Amino acid sequence: MFKYGSPLNFQRWLDDNQHLLKPPVGNQQIWADGDFMVTVVGGPNQRTDFHDDPVEEFFYQFKGNAYLLIWDRGRYERVNLKEGDMWLMAPHVIHSPQRPEAGSLCLVIERKRPQGEHDALQWSCAACGTLIKRYEMQLESLVADLPPVYERFYATSEAERTCRECGQIHPGRAYQAWHEALKIQPD
Ligand SMILES: [Fe+2]
Repeated sequence: MFKYGSPLNFQRWLDDNQHLLKPPVGNQQIWADGDFMVTVVGGPNQRTDFHDDPVEEFFYQFKGNAYLLIWDRGRYERVNLKEGDMWLMAPHVIHSPQRPEAGSLCLVIERKRPQGEHDALQWSCAACGTLIKRYEMQLESLVADLPPVYERFYATSEAERTCRECGQIHPGRAYQAWHEALKIQPD
C-alpha cells in the first residue's frame, strides 16, 4: 500500500507509545525510514550536551514547558518553548534541549542527513563557554548513534574535562552541577 502506511491518529499514537515517552527512553520516532524524521520527545530529561545539527529542526511543544539552551554569539542564551509554542531552528545553531517537566511532550521534525553533512555533540564549560569536547558523526539513527557518544564523553577523565581557559572542571553527565555553574548573560 502506502510506503508509510495509512494516516494515523496522533492521540492514539501517543497513547500507544506513552511508555516510551518517559525515562529511560524519552523519545520515539513515528515513521522509521522517512526523509522527515518525525519524533515525539517527552520529559523529564535534562542534559549537559549540545547538538550541532546540519539540518533545520522544527519544534512544537504541545504539552508542558521546555527550553533550549543555545550557545550563540559567544554566550549562553535560553529559548523558552512554552506549551503551544512552535519554533523553527536554523542549521548549526548549537543547542541543548532541557525538559524538566515530567509528562511534557514535544513534536520534533528534522530531515535525514545528506551523506557528508555531519552532526556533532559537544560539551562546553558552564562558566565561560569554552569548548571542552566535540565529537562529529554521520548521523544515520537518532536512537543508535547518539548514546555511544554520550558514554565516550562520560568516560573522559577530569583532566580531559578541565577548561583550558578558566580551570573549571566539567562534571560530565551530572547535569545539576553543570546547570548550577551555568552563566547565562541577561540581554
Ligand atoms: Fe571555562
